[in-house]
Amino acid sequence: TLPFAGRRAFSDYSPFGRLATSPAKPAKVAVLGATGGIGQPLSLLMKLNPLVTDLALYDIRGARGVAVDLSHINTNSTVKGYAAGEEGLKATLQGADIVLIPAGVPRKPGMTRDDLFNTNASIVRDLAKAAAQYSPEANMLIISNPVNSTVPIVSEVFKARNVYNPKRLFGVTTLDVVRASRFISEVKGTDPAHHNITVAGGHSGLTIVPLLSEKYPEIVGETRDALVKRIQFGGDEVVNAKESMGSATLSMAYAGARMANSLLRARAGESGISEPAFVESPLYKAAGVDFFASEVELGPEGVKEIHALPKTNEYENELLATALQDLKANIKKGIDFTKSNP
Ligand code: NAD
Ligand code: LMR
Repeated sequence: TLPFAGRRAFSDYSPFGRLATSPAKPAKVAVLGATGGIGQPLSLLMKLNPLVTDLALYDIRGARGVAVDLSHINTNSTVKGYAAGEEGLKATLQGADIVLIPAGVPRKPGMTRDDLFNTNASIVRDLAKAAAQYSPEANMLIISNPVNSTVPIVSEVFKARNVYNPKRLFGVTTLDVVRASRFISEVKGTDPAHHNITVAGGHSGLTIVPLLSEKYPEIVGETRDALVKRIQFGGDEVVNAKESMGSATLSMAYAGARMANSLLRARAGESGISEPAFVESPLYKAAGVDFFASEVELGPEGVKEIHALPKTNEYENELLATALQDLKANIKKGIDFTKSNP
């Protein structure tokens, strides 16, 4: 008997899923903030992804070193790292199909993601300006926090330059769904690969709304409340355990690599691929909330279809109502910042 007989295969957990062995077409992936806690393992996972043909790394420090290191790995893609400044940004971004942005400062214990706004808003705005100029048609995957505000910042920067395409802008919320499936499996004593729920709303505290009831009506009462709270505040668990050394980096790299891989597969023509993401969404536009995270079907054009939410119960409707209020304020904050600091 094989030691792993009856168990799930590595590919069930791999951020690459079941892989084609060679890319259907060339794909350039750019990572901005590539030297950081997320940037390095995310770049490693991109180097290991056979759908990637060119990997370009940018940071205000050290991207060339990371690139040379990764370039010795014997996968087929090329890796180039660039020095800080306009020329480096231009070379990193030109021809990119996917731009991953984990640039910016992480939280320390006691901080909210919104406390990062003052530092990260201008970092993301400036990187978005470069992307609007050098890679306006790329899929933009925004990881930098606070995601609920940094995504609207990117949209405003692109709009001001007449290159905004809502189908190409994603706030990366994959980690919330990765966490949800892991935490559900711990409650149920099962394999996390079997659990996939919609986590709606945004990416901070009470804006993170796990919709458990349709798939798991049996999880109720205190167990449900604790599970929902753990998914909403999973980020704090890591921030506190890291004791001022930063926030989630490795699980985030995994989640970011999964999102990028899904886009690469959809771009290569595979159908039926969906991932959670914080995108410009019709779901709550009538309530004045233009960006909203939900399950998004991906295609070669980026967003193919934004799915309706699963059936919700009273408890979840209340969570959604709270989330919408916070989201509205977070989105407005990003838009107002970009308008007054173009
Ligand atoms: P880090 O400090 O380890 O790395 C950030 C990197 O960004 C550094 O290498 C830094 O030099 C670089 N950087 C700063 N300004 C830059 C600029 N103008 N251009 C290019 N690079 C620049 O931080 P980290 O742990 O990697 O986290 C990065 C961000 O990701 C934080 O804002 C964090 O809150 C966020 N994050 C988001 C999620 C999510 O689920 N979306 C999960 C975890 C972390
Ligand atoms: C996370 O969810 O882990 C990230 O958004 C980082 C953080 O600040 O919690």
